[in-house]
Amino acid sequence: MSAIDNLEVCLRSVGEEEDFQINKNTLHDVFSPQLFRRNAGIAIEKLEQHLSDRSIRGLDLIDPDILLQTVKNLMSEQAGMKISDEDKLKAIINLYINTGIQVHSPGYMGRQFSGVIPLAGVFDLVSSIVNQPSSFYEAAQLPSVVERIMADELNQFIGWPEGQFAMVTTSGGSLANLTAILAARNDKFPQFWSEGVAGLHKKVKPAIAVSEDSHYSVSRAAGIIGIGEDQIIRLPTNAKKQICLDKVQHVLDKAEQSGLKVFCLVASVGTTSMGAFDPIDELAEISREREIWLHVDGAHGASLLVSDQHRLKLKGIEKADSFVLDAHKMLFVPAMCTLLFYKNKQKSYCAFNQEASYVFEKKPDIYTEYDSAEQNFECTKRPLIMNLWVCWMLYGKSLFANKIDHLCHITQSVYQQLLTEHDFETLHSPEINILCFRYFPDGLEPTQIGDFQLMIRNRIRKDGKFFISKVDIDGTTALRVVFMNHEVTLEHFNQLLTEIRRIGLDLLQKVSNSNQSVVTR
Ligand SMILES: Cc1ncc(COP(=O)(O)O)c(C=O)c1O
Repeated sequence: MSAIDNLEVCLRSVGEEEDFQINKNTLHDVFSPQLFRRNAGIAIEKLEQHLSDRSIRGLDLIDPDILLQTVKNLMSEQAGMKISDEDKLKAIINLYINTGIQVHSPGYMGRQFSGVIPLAGVFDLVSSIVNQPSSFYEAAQLPSVVERIMADELNQFIGWPEGQFAMVTTSGGSLANLTAILAARNDKFPQFWSEGVAGLHKKVKPAIAVSEDSHYSVSRAAGIIGIGEDQIIRLPTNAKKQICLDKVQHVLDKAEQSGLKVFCLVASVGTTSMGAFDPIDELAEISREREIWLHVDGAHGASLLVSDQHRLKLKGIEKADSFVLDAHKMLFVPAMCTLLFYKNKQKSYCAFNQEASYVFEKKPDIYTEYDSAEQNFECTKRPLIMNLWVCWMLYGKSLFANKIDHLCHITQSVYQQLLTEHDFETLHSPEINILCFRYFPDGLEPTQIGDFQLMIRNRIRKDGKFFISKVDIDGTTALRVVFMNHEVTLEHFNQLLTEIRRIGLDLLQKVSNSNQSVVTR
């Protein structure tokens, strides 16, 4: 049943249950704890049903105009239906659940956000009602203390001297990358903050060096902080999409010779496209020799820190000046929860060099010493750390490590399976839970392979049983799976392969019947 049909059914059952009457004109009623309990109960019941649904499903992709009209109808109580508030609430929750990518289903194999640990969701509700902006200790005493605790917990796997490093939470990996690159710029060019580009000597052109395969937020950051995309040095990658170590010195030398002052090198652990890990240890050595800030974008892969099996992939991370970890990816909490680490605590204050007497204290006291507003971009900020810490505290490190190990294992098994399938080709051996591959049946022209993958991916999404993604590697599209659900088995993946073959052969058949190219859509 589609999300829209489901809504219709839900609305047809209007009035079956006794309505809870409130006087909406009374603030007292709207804010009443009884109403809160009632509404929360409705939501929890719906979410429990949602979590209990073990069926294989991906996404019910709806024409936006139809969805828009459905929502308008719901708002205007169309067709003379008198819908109670309670039924409206149920209908909205249903619609929200059913129009989402089904992250809790084994059919979800497509993106980097997770089917969340349910307790983290429960705690999100607590945070919403307590509602404390967490950049200031006085408004968020517990989150401020917990940030320090969580930083120390994770530092067990990094190994920095106690009290000398810093961890800041930000709303997302993109913002964390921007913040770290800004700190690196201000560290190297301290006058940039107050004087801007005008303060630079004419011959000095600040530049950053990034992997060819870095996330777009990195080059976006360069644009935002006034470096300019033209001053981004692209470091070549090998077939595994890791930065080629043997080319780095040469590329940096050439950049310097052309008048660029490279102040930051951005490496990645767990690239978005293929999940590749750059050689941090060696890049740290090069950066140290050249006095360049090493920033590691570990939005996806830095969570491997908690896994004894996989931590070695992050060898050298303790030498980075800063690194990012998105807990809303591989630590399985709801978006957003990003952790930005700095090796040197003092440098975490470089990014934003401001005074604001209404919030920032020149001489911190025992309370304001815990404020983070001078280190992060946000003023009002969700208490991002709480969901993660509550799960960490109640379930321990092993929950996260076990899930990561399992996801990496299933990705390896799937890879091994694909090697035995004559009509599929893999693009790499997976380092983490991301795998890119192509379906290449007999009768398909090599020139059409990329468009063919795209068509398959779009049909799979439309059919709604599975949700996978696509990626362009070296100019050609490939299918991409990201395993975030620990309930996915090889059997589920085999069902996906059956779907891909069915759709692929159907597309080929249609093409040969119409004598058209496969690229015709
Ligand atoms: C490697 C990498 N860096 C940064 C980001 C951006 O993170 P966010 O979506 O939390 O802003 C992503 C997102 O997928 C990513 O994969």
